[in-house]
Amino acid sequence: MAKRTIVTMPGDGIGKLVLEQAIQVLDAAGFSANYIHGDIGWEFWCKEGNPFPERTQKLLEEYKIGLFGAITSKPKDKAEAELSPELKGKGLTYYSPIVSMRQKYDLDICKRPCHTFKGNPLNFIRRGFGGSIEEPIVDVMIFRQNTECLYSGVEWTNPPDPVYDALMTHKKFKDNFSWCPRPDLAVSARIFTRKYTTRIVKAAFEYAKERGFDTVTVCEKPNVIRETSGMMMKIAHEMSKNEYPDIRVQDTNIDAQMMWLTKNPENYHVIVAGNMFGDIVSDGFAGLIGGLGFACSANIGQEIAVFEPTHGSAPKYADFNPSIVNPIAMILSAVMMLEHIGEKETASRISKAVADVIFEGKVKTYDMLKVSGTPEAISKGAASTQQMTDAIIAKLK
Ligand code: NAI
Ligand code: MG
Repeated sequence: MAKRTIVTMPGDGIGKLVLEQAIQVLDAAGFSANYIHGDIGWEFWCKEGNPFPERTQKLLEEYKIGLFGAITSKPKDKAEAELSPELKGKGLTYYSPIVSMRQKYDLDICKRPCHTFKGNPLNFIRRGFGGSIEEPIVDVMIFRQNTECLYSGVEWTNPPDPVYDALMTHKKFKDNFSWCPRPDLAVSARIFTRKYTTRIVKAAFEYAKERGFDTVTVCEKPNVIRETSGMMMKIAHEMSKNEYPDIRVQDTNIDAQMMWLTKNPENYHVIVAGNMFGDIVSDGFAGLIGGLGFACSANIGQEIAVFEPTHGSAPKYADFNPSIVNPIAMILSAVMMLEHIGEKETASRISKAVADVIFEGKVKTYDMLKVSGTPEAISKGAASTQQMTDAIIAKLK
């Protein structure tokens, strides 16, 4: 069979580092692929005025599967200030390349699994009846709509006339916001479309069916955000009724869900939400299973799919030598890639190796020890990034 080609986009900071570790693990597991490097991130914004250069876009269009590390994004004024002198004042605008990538390639299905690894010292515990300590097993997949909602990018400060005039036709706007001087008014559009809302809800039902779960939880706020959240809720109920009669819809509001997730996280298995609330609820669940060092994700479109850890570029750790960050989130993102392309056996061998290392408890990165992330972490017993990767590789043999 022809070797697969994977576009690797390390990005900035620790993105570069953890992606390289994931490839070591893929190699050790016997997954054979050509890796083609794609430039992405802050460096390319500064040098070229585009953090997601066209040559990288072409690679993704050609090879369809990407592994992405993390990028650095900075506020507007810093973005302008750090542009190379010949690009300044040309009206270039910085947009996060990962958000642009999700929109440009319709990577609309974001899957964020949060599964407890036995033996992880960071696992959430709670006090049970009679003072007992319980460690609930978290096994949840969050389906986050990845291209719409408050991440639409459709927003204005001091909206132009046609937008302002349109807003004024809404009674709520006229009654409650027309007092505000226009330069002091900022508006971000929360956009849901039936097509993409249906796709994310459907993905959640399909997963529930595959895993044998009888509930899909819609985590929105339809009592207040009636149009957008309401659309998702309605689609979910109809889908349950018409296509998945054995799977019921449970509705929770995002605020209540953030409270419930520490009370009874074991009761949730499939959650679906819009972009913003999906981001929030997935970070919440990630906190129960060890935090950013363990949180992996997939961005899946109809043609292209890109796999990435949830964490960012953690610039303050980028230059440590040896590096101390946890490579597991990136390695598990590579596992999600393997599952997506049908390499299920290799995927489950790597997952098991990760689980074995965590369970054994001999090798722990600084975040698993709750020591602070300083170079001294190593002398306090923390494993380096490479030692964690090596331990996982050793379990593969
Ligand atoms: P971050 O995720 O980079 O780091 C936050 C903190 O989480 C770190 O200081 C560290 O304590 C911990 N952490 C993150 N990854 C870790 C790992 N693998 N092992 C152990 N600990 C880890 O988020 P932050 O500091 O808010 O943002 C830094 C930069 O990353 C910003 O420029 C931000 O815009 C960008 N970012 C990029 C994302 C992406 O590429 N998808 C996502 C989130 C932030
Ligand atoms: Mg996030």
